[in-house]
Amino acid sequence: MSEKLRVGILGATGMVGQRFIALLENHPWFEVKTLAASPRSAGKTYEEAVGGRWKMDTPMPEAVKNIVVKNVNEVEEVAASVDFVFSAVDMSKDEIKKIEEEYAKTETPVVSNNSAHRWTPDVPMVVPEINPEHFEVIESQKKRLGTTKGFVAVKPNCSIQSYAPVLTAWKEFEPYEVVATTYQAISGAGKTFKDWPEMEGNIIPFIGGEEEKSEQEPLRLWGHVENGVIVKAETPVITTQCIRVPVLNGHTAAVFVKFKKKPTKEQLIEKLVNFKGLPQELELPSAPKQMIQYMEEDNRPQVTLDVNYENGMGISVGRLREDTVYDYKFVGLSHNTVRGAAGGAVLCAETLKAKGYITKK
Ligand SMILES: NC(=O)c1ccc[n+]([C@@H]2O[C@H](COP(=O)([O-])OP(=O)(O)OC[C@H]3O[C@@H](n4cnc5c(N)ncnc54)[C@H](OP(=O)(O)O)[C@@H]3O)[C@@H](O)[C@H]2O)c1
Repeated sequence: MSEKLRVGILGATGMVGQRFIALLENHPWFEVKTLAASPRSAGKTYEEAVGGRWKMDTPMPEAVKNIVVKNVNEVEEVAASVDFVFSAVDMSKDEIKKIEEEYAKTETPVVSNNSAHRWTPDVPMVVPEINPEHFEVIESQKKRLGTTKGFVAVKPNCSIQSYAPVLTAWKEFEPYEVVATTYQAISGAGKTFKDWPEMEGNIIPFIGGEEEKSEQEPLRLWGHVENGVIVKAETPVITTQCIRVPVLNGHTAAVFVKFKKKPTKEQLIEKLVNFKGLPQELELPSAPKQMIQYMEEDNRPQVTLDVNYENGMGISVGRLREDTVYDYKFVGLSHNTVRGAAGGAVLCAETLKAKGYITKK
């Protein structure tokens, strides 16, 4: 019998679900056992259910092609065959909240890519290099849910990954005011150019709900655990504009920062390249060796050249320079469906396994 943990993917046929499948092919700790999607896909083989919708650059893994897709809503049946699930279903926020808790109540941990539970006080929202200690609130969540093993843990929005780790690396210089404009890829909306031809050569200056998430979610990452819940940080103040651009994968952020303790440029670069956390310490399978690279060239980072840095789990930063109004400005780039979605969730699950929160049933 395999010693690997058996994994289910909720929303397996979608863009993020497909990314989970691609990332988990040959994973040393996790084995994809069960795939679930809407009732439209249930009963079909994965290959039939996805049809022409496969959006990854790599071919669909043979191991999943003949798995018969289950209905996400048949919680007991899906949960019975797995040790934990990744969630990437696209339903209403209330439906997602409810169904993720139903899975947790079957003693099946849920590692979610969805935003529904990001502000539930006892649900940890984690970037493992930034705030792995927030997983502590799982104990109080389990009490609320009446479970021994089941819980929900989430990762934050894709848009913040190009600047939140950078600001974390600079914490000791006390950033207090941040202006960020994000240039976001169409895969963040689950789309390719084939699905969304109007995006070719176009820019759309609105992504629903994205600016609130981009301004508020970093504060929750920098918050602390108090009486079994997360209390968010109060600073820095962040204001954002989020813009959809004609790029397939890769969210770029142009960012201005003011510091209470203004550092030199050399100090800032030194903090970036030496930034590491628990995943690096534990050498987790999906951890980038270097989380943030600094690029000296004036024309980097570029989406086409740099989005896959560290297999899409690293962040590329460049154009760091002093500013006339703010102290410094820079440009950051991260892969929105890898670090920003499925890859970030896989790294959370690896951290949860390493810390004993996810075990075999
Ligand atoms: N794309 C990104 O970069 C990204 C980043 C962060 C967060 N997210 C979030 O992750 C979730 C998935 O995003 P996506 O881009 O992968 O979406 P997507 O490509 O539209 O996929 C949606 C998935 O949910 C399933 N689904 C849809 N309606 C359902 C229902 N009523 N009941 C059960 N299953 C249902 C679909 O199954 P069928 O194929 O059977 O319809 C499919 O598997 C969304 O909540 C999104 O906001 C996405």
